[in-house]
Amino acid sequence: MNIIQMFSRLSSRYDFLNRIFSFGMDYFWRKAVVQELVLFPQDKVHMSLDLATGSGELAFMLADCSKVEKVIGIDLSQQMIEVANHKRLRKLMKLHLPQLQVHSNLPTFEVGDAVNIPFAGSSFDLVTIAFGIRNFCDVKRSLIGIERILKKGGYLIILEFSLQGTDNQFLKSIYWFYLWKIMPLIGGIIAREKDAYKYLAQTIERFPGGENFSTLVSGCGLQRVKIRKFFAVPVYLYIFRKH
Ligand SMILES: C[S@@+](CC[C@H](N)C(=O)[O-])C[C@H]1O[C@@H](n2cnc3c(N)ncnc32)[C@H](O)[C@@H]1O
Repeated sequence: MNIIQMFSRLSSRYDFLNRIFSFGMDYFWRKAVVQELVLFPQDKVHMSLDLATGSGELAFMLADCSKVEKVIGIDLSQQMIEVANHKRLRKLMKLHLPQLQVHSNLPTFEVGDAVNIPFAGSSFDLVTIAFGIRNFCDVKRSLIGIERILKKGGYLIILEFSLQGTDNQFLKSIYWFYLWKIMPLIGGIIAREKDAYKYLAQTIERFPGGENFSTLVSGCGLQRVKIRKFFAVPVYLYIFRKH
């Protein structure tokens, strides 16, 4: 089973499992991406692309931000895109109930590869990736593609896990125990997907974090603006800019 098949199998329970495994913190990690937009110099983010959008959680949050005009989410898993489109339909139905005041900007979703990005050069002001890039088969090729589709002055914001970059050995061993022992156990019981959670642990352990990852991105022509590590968890938020 390849990783896209794995995510497809998880798709219907993906949001629920995320909430459980992150103790509800995944919402705030994504929210932090949207909060960063407030600091952007541009009045408006006209075109935004969420790569490896999954069930579209970040794409919906971005579209809800008044600064953002259009959001497109792409993912290689057809099933994930179906979950995202289902959510979109539910929000669209709410929009037609006049008593409910729902922000009318909704993202659109399509199947697409973040390693061979199917959009023209210089077409986006913002590209986001939440917990997706460590799964890409060719990270460097994806980054080169992102640099191509970003407009001059456009931003790339990445949220990603990594155990590398955590120097505190005590915290590192807690993370390790949680990733390799607790998550596969619970994933096996609740979702019957023990192997999927072993894969997750493996990618989080191997993926470069902090300075190492930032250097990799900068090598693809994007200038680092900011790295933020969230308190007590192995989650990083990176911001880069195309000059
Ligand atoms: C851990 S999920 C993250 C989903 C979502 N961004 C979130 O914040 O929950 C990783 C996603 O990456 C997708 N993915 C993996 N490789 C991809 C690629 N080359 N192009 C597009 N999506 C990809 C998977 O299908 C999966 O939906």
